[in-house]
Amino acid sequence: MSGCGTRIVLRGQKPLALCDRCPCFGSLFPPLAALTFAASSIICAFGLASAAPRSPYRHLELCGIALNERDGTTMTNEVLNTMKTRRSCRCYLDKMPEPEALNAVLEAGTWAPTGMGRQSPVIVCIQNKADRDTLSKMNAAVMGGNGDPFYGAPCVAVVLVDKTIPTCVEDGSLVMGNMLNAAESVGLSACWIHRAKEMFETAEGQALLKKWGVPNAENLRGVGNCILGYAAEGGKKAPAPRKENYVVLVK
Ligand SMILES: Cc1cc2nc3c(=O)[nH]c(=O)nc-3n(C[C@H](O)[C@H](O)[C@H](O)COP(=O)(O)O)c2cc1C
Repeated sequence: MSGCGTRIVLRGQKPLALCDRCPCFGSLFPPLAALTFAASSIICAFGLASAAPRSPYRHLELCGIALNERDGTTMTNEVLNTMKTRRSCRCYLDKMPEPEALNAVLEAGTWAPTGMGRQSPVIVCIQNKADRDTLSKMNAAVMGGNGDPFYGAPCVAVVLVDKTIPTCVEDGSLVMGNMLNAAESVGLSACWIHRAKEMFETAEGQALLKKWGVPNAENLRGVGNCILGYAAEGGKKAPAPRKENYVVLVK
């Protein structure tokens, strides 16, 4: 993170602290200081001047930080908002994701952190109906069923990992997480569909990898299927409340 260089000097007001929450590294002045200390965060005075004619919270929005009035915690930027509002979708329109949005999702997957930077995962993005239907059947077969575990989604990004790398499952899971959040952020919907491990342990799974020309196929292990598409009505459920003691603070 680098500072934007903004420094707003308000006559007669000494800065109380330096911002550590946004890229501007600006100084924190009262009365903003009082507000942000109460909210247990240190937020700069960037945008204070431009905020003046508008709401006293406007500068927080400009910094990408807004006070969450519901629970009193601070909410930061768009990324955090997307993480919080993303929901799994289990009913899709019969419409292929626009290439630009799909590419953004796949690229986000490639930027997930990996153990020792080894980039153990590979993402195979299936966009044709025949292969998509085959994968759906294979997935259902793992459960002994014959429904469509892909919920009608037209596209599936399968995450496989090089099983010779010790952090491979963690690496693949982070790729899945990045893609799920990225999908939400570009107007697509998604869901993690499990059982990729079992799917690609079969001869049929191995044959598909070879057919698709995926390198190193014999060493790959499935981690997850990220189904992608546009949500149909009723595809998303309201989230469960977060459990008690999800976070334990030790100071
Ligand atoms: C490891 C993992 C496996 C999952 N497998 C499935 C699955 O096979 N089918 C499904 O419908 N949802 C699956 N999900 C989605 C979860 O059910 C979903 O994330 C959870 O209910 C919370 O809902 P939310 O994603 O809307 O917050 C999976 C999620 C994870 C993280």
